[in-house]
Amino acid sequence: MDELRILLSREQIAQRVAEMGRQITTDCAGEPVIFVGVLKGAAVFLSDLVRQVRVDATFDFIAVSSYGNRARANQELAGSWESSGEVRLTKDVEQSLRGKNVILVEDILDTGLTLTFLKRLLLGHEPKSFRVAVLLDKASRRKLAVAADYVGFVIPDEFVVGYGLDYAEKFRNIPDICVLPDVSG
Ligand code: IMP
Repeated sequence: MDELRILLSREQIAQRVAEMGRQITTDCAGEPVIFVGVLKGAAVFLSDLVRQVRVDATFDFIAVSSYGNRARANQELAGSWESSGEVRLTKDVEQSLRGKNVILVEDILDTGLTLTFLKRLLLGHEPKSFRVAVLLDKASRRKLAVAADYVGFVIPDEFVVGYGLDYAEKFRNIPDICVLPDVSG
């Protein structure tokens, strides 16, 4: 773990997540909201965010996998974690979102492939309202024009772990968000 460099400390994250929670509370104006977290990376962020929101909140989870995606598919190929562009649903929500206020909660917005896929999928449920909250935005890496309504931090093009984010399933339990130098780029 010596090689990890802190990019965002747990205090910075907590402060920003609290701000995001206040903003969502204001925007949702007393309406019930379903938070849909994208497993596994967004689990930690979702659990902190929902506790900062003062509305009637429930949550659900969805999971996707990207073919050719970085460490998960090929742990030894450090550096080749680019998505091939194909996103596949591996776990759907457990309830209809029709007529509901939905906030999709994602860890990182990177190329935008995953969010584009999930937006299309969830909008197909015909929710009453649909918003997206991401903790991190690697804006410089976007391939598809898609944006989030709530963004925690815009970060540079570096591979980050911690606070739910992994490299080959490791580091998710680190409380800070750290750069993993060997995998960046
Ligand atoms: P996108 O489809 O390219 O926008 O990729 C989004 C997904 O890629 C995120 O939900 C993460 O699972 C993963 N990802 C992208 N960058 C990183 C990173 O720096 N660390 C960990 N996971 C990442």
